[in-house]
Amino acid sequence: MHMSDDLVGKQPKVLIPEVKLQSRISELAQEINHDYRGREVTAICILKGSFIFFSDIIRKLDLPLSCEFLGVQNYGNRNVTSGEVKVTLDINEPLENKHVIVFEDVIDTGLTIQYIMNALRARKPATIKSCALLLKTENLRTEVDADYLGFKIAKEFVVGYGIDHMSKYRGLPYIGYLEHDH
Ligand code: IMP
Ligand code: MG
Repeated sequence: MHMSDDLVGKQPKVLIPEVKLQSRISELAQEINHDYRGREVTAICILKGSFIFFSDIIRKLDLPLSCEFLGVQNYGNRNVTSGEVKVTLDINEPLENKHVIVFEDVIDTGLTIQYIMNALRARKPATIKSCALLLKTENLRTEVDADYLGFKIAKEFVVGYGIDHMSKYRGLPYIGYLEHDH
């Protein structure tokens, strides 16, 4: 996958329409409500890409909830990523003995979520699970998978519903994809 310039300004094609997105997110929320019944949960939003997914799903969680925000940026070129990410906004609250759920937009190689989960595990939560909206199965390079998963997709470059290409497209209400010129 290339973040090349020919994607700039393209009109995205619809991959997952709004209605399908919302009904799957309701199902995920029901699963989480069932699994965590009676427990207090710390929900962590991975910024920036997960902010819309996060705000939709937490409104469907019927649990005593604290919300935290972790800002991360991938280092340099994603094609040669080590999975090491730069933390741009850290969580100041202790996670020790908390039941933590991490909400992420897209898992591609899995290196980013693996890095985040390991970094948060070091803070000694009672339990920690991940919930990803999208998983690109073809590039997965790690054992890491999501504990809760919205959709498996192919390796197209997705945008919308919080997800960007070069800072654009985050406001689209659906998941779209951008196609390279042929
Ligand atoms: P990974 O480390 O290869 O799993 O990449 C995951 C990170 O790259 C996520 O935090 C996403 O924000 C970003 N990413 C992966 N695929 C896409 C995409 O298709 N569109 C936009 N961002 C993506
Ligand atoms: Mg990202």
